[in-house]
Amino acid sequence: MRVIATVLAALAALSVASATPASGCTSTYKVKSGNNCGGIANAFKMTTAGFKACNPGLSCSHLKAGTTVCTACPAAQPVCNKVYRVGSSETCGSLTTAKKISLTTFQMCNPGVSCVGSLPAGEHVCLSCNAAPLAITSVAPTPMPKTTSTSVRKTDTSTSVAKPKATLPVTCTSIYKSSNPSCTTIRRLYGSDYRNLIRWNPTMYSCAYLPTYFKNQDICVSPPMNPPLYQPPQFRAYKNTPIPGKIIELKSASTFCGFLPPDPRGAVAPQEGVAKAFCTNQQALKDTQGLTGNIYPTGWIRSAKYVANATAGWVQVTGQINRDAYKNAKGQHLSPTDGGGQYDPTSTKGAVCLGYNTFLHLLEPDSGVYCIRCCQSDIDCWTGTSTQGCRHLIPADNYDILPLSST
Ligand SMILES: *[C@@H]1O[C@H](CO)[C@@H](O)[C@H](O)[C@H]1NC(C)=O
Repeated sequence: MRVIATVLAALAALSVASATPASGCTSTYKVKSGNNCGGIANAFKMTTAGFKACNPGLSCSHLKAGTTVCTACPAAQPVCNKVYRVGSSETCGSLTTAKKISLTTFQMCNPGVSCVGSLPAGEHVCLSCNAAPLAITSVAPTPMPKTTSTSVRKTDTSTSVAKPKATLPVTCTSIYKSSNPSCTTIRRLYGSDYRNLIRWNPTMYSCAYLPTYFKNQDICVSPPMNPPLYQPPQFRAYKNTPIPGKIIELKSASTFCGFLPPDPRGAVAPQEGVAKAFCTNQQALKDTQGLTGNIYPTGWIRSAKYVANATAGWVQVTGQINRDAYKNAKGQHLSPTDGGGQYDPTSTKGAVCLGYNTFLHLLEPDSGVYCIRCCQSDIDCWTGTSTQGCRHLIPADNYDILPLSST
């Protein structure tokens, strides 16, 4: 009996290990009892074949509760805009005729699906896709359905992120075009700094994307005669490809996530690159990491204030921390003399704030404060001056209400 149990445990460990999500996975989900591969794929708007491609080694016939599966792996497949659940005895031929799409499109959108014989009934295939996927497609996942219903769901809402296109204010008086544009060059040639460029070019939000999205495109480099009506900056594309465990969000003063250094004994700045996301509650974890992840240590967040500015396109949470509340097993914690550090898409690889192009997050153990701002535009999340601290970069009125915590 004992031997059998050991063997079973070893097998269970093996099957979990072999189901490690593909590298490059940008979003994961922890399987609940009653889930099946088709249901999970559908909930995350993936085809069954795409889901399997993202989870090499995963056994769909023995799907175990608690297994972490990948629900977005951009490199492996085209981004699907329209998912369809195959009925009984449908073939590639009958389906493409009925849906008025070409066989080429179907095959391009469904790599790995065989058109020999009938298609597997109940599996999800893709009817329309972006053949060249952007690496950045992960938005907050659609919540899993409560039951694994087998009814056909009409899903043709796209979750893909539109690639920003340069559109020029018609009244622009001076246009610059280059195969390798950069804010530095434009500033040298025309004296216009990044803030002006972002204002004059409504689809631009960051210098970081100039070489990619504005290559050989018109860029307005002097004040337009009749400036376009102000448009709040929109979400376009994360600066990073999101990595699970590095995704944060700001929803309210009680539901948000930020970063902490993995080692509580060390200083903040040297650990910026390996920072770990922590959330205030299960809801925030679910939104960002698919329920696996870290909850902030009890008492760490002493206060939190949430402010949103929809006109400018940013949200922020600011407040005080208790630096003694985050400690290792030996009780060692962050140093009271540590001036802290800055998390942003450059310092912390793979870090994104859900729904926002960029973010800025400082943590200052010495003065006992933290601040997180998620922005659509670099203008509001300027990451070049971290040494100035929360009080200067992200103004708020709740940094000094409570006395500094002990030690
Ligand atoms: C929101 O942002 C806009 C644009 O930057 C600014 O004019 C306005 O004062 C801000 N409002 C608040 C309440 O901060």
